[in-house]
Amino acid sequence: MRFLVINGPNLDLLGTRQPETYGYETLSDLETMVTRWAEAMDAEISCAQSNHEGEIIELIHDFAGDGIVFNPGAFTHTSHAIADAIRGVTTPVVETHISNVRQREPWRAVSLIGPACVRTIYGRGLVGYRNAIRHLVNRLAMPFETIRYGPHPDNVGDLRRGGGDLVIVAHGGLWLHQFERDTVESLALDLTGRGYDTLNVEYRRLGDGGGWPGSAHDVLTSLDHIPQLELQHDRVIAISHSAGGQLMTWSAERAATEVDIHVALSPLLDLGAAVANGDVGATECQQLLDGGAPAKTLPSTVATVILHASEDQIVPIERSQAVSEETGIELIVPEIDHFELLDPSKPHWTTVLKLIEGSA
Ligand code: DQA
Repeated sequence: MRFLVINGPNLDLLGTRQPETYGYETLSDLETMVTRWAEAMDAEISCAQSNHEGEIIELIHDFAGDGIVFNPGAFTHTSHAIADAIRGVTTPVVETHISNVRQREPWRAVSLIGPACVRTIYGRGLVGYRNAIRHLVNRLAMPFETIRYGPHPDNVGDLRRGGGDLVIVAHGGLWLHQFERDTVESLALDLTGRGYDTLNVEYRRLGDGGGWPGSAHDVLTSLDHIPQLELQHDRVIAISHSAGGQLMTWSAERAATEVDIHVALSPLLDLGAAVANGDVGATECQQLLDGGAPAKTLPSTVATVILHASEDQIVPIERSQAVSEETGIELIVPEIDHFELLDPSKPHWTTVLKLIEGSA
């Protein structure tokens, strides 16, 4: 696998340019990180930076590798020519922005480049580049079909066919728009590699029609859309992460589609406690509560197991300990952090696989 990272205008000034927005790492620091991340994924990477539209167009035309991670800088908002260059080649391009372009000046929320790209990743800082490379690696590793279960652009899911039981995966990210289903893609890929069909669902999020009740209604609708996919499965298994745990717990209890088991990875189920304790995401939890979300979402009829990371810096483990005490559901504590739960090469994944084992 060979990838190219292109950084557009003014990104040569990283480190000194508006560090409160773009951070203190320089372009050279970023390129070192990107190279290390790519190597860890067995990918080769080259990096380029240009302040010139024509030069960027030629870089896109000339690259003969497997994918491009592209931060177009301000050309994002102005350049039909670059968008056409991307449309003119078959190389998949992931549009990547360091800052949260949807929460700055209104003109930054408009991207001419995005519609020509296979994905857009934004607002995650430099880690967004790592996520973009991972998405390209995952695209190459296994084909998928993006199905639609509702009218909103986020009412979609990536279906990967393994032929066995279906696993529906709901990502986390504090219901925020900048966190999407690519974050749990590696789990879906691993499961499909083992013979499961997987549906990695997207849902509306805060900032674009989501929050409460939009996000939860979408996950519920995606569950109830399953029969229309006409898959050959005996069981439906749910796996969720973080805020996705709240959405999946609420939805699985209400869905017409029966969920046989729900494995919740560091779920954020007690919004009230998160607000009271000032946890990470307290503001978003308050927003959901203001929208009428239940203070606490607990499973009662769906078989649920929680794996809560011992080193979790996002959702404190005490929250799951309290849920487990109140409901009697099993709590397993792998010695990893919140995001390592999304890495199928970590030992906890064997536990998850055992829990969901069946007719795949
Ligand atoms: C940027 C966002 C653009 O709006 C801006 O013009 C940049 C950087 C980002 O990475 O957040 O130059 O692409």
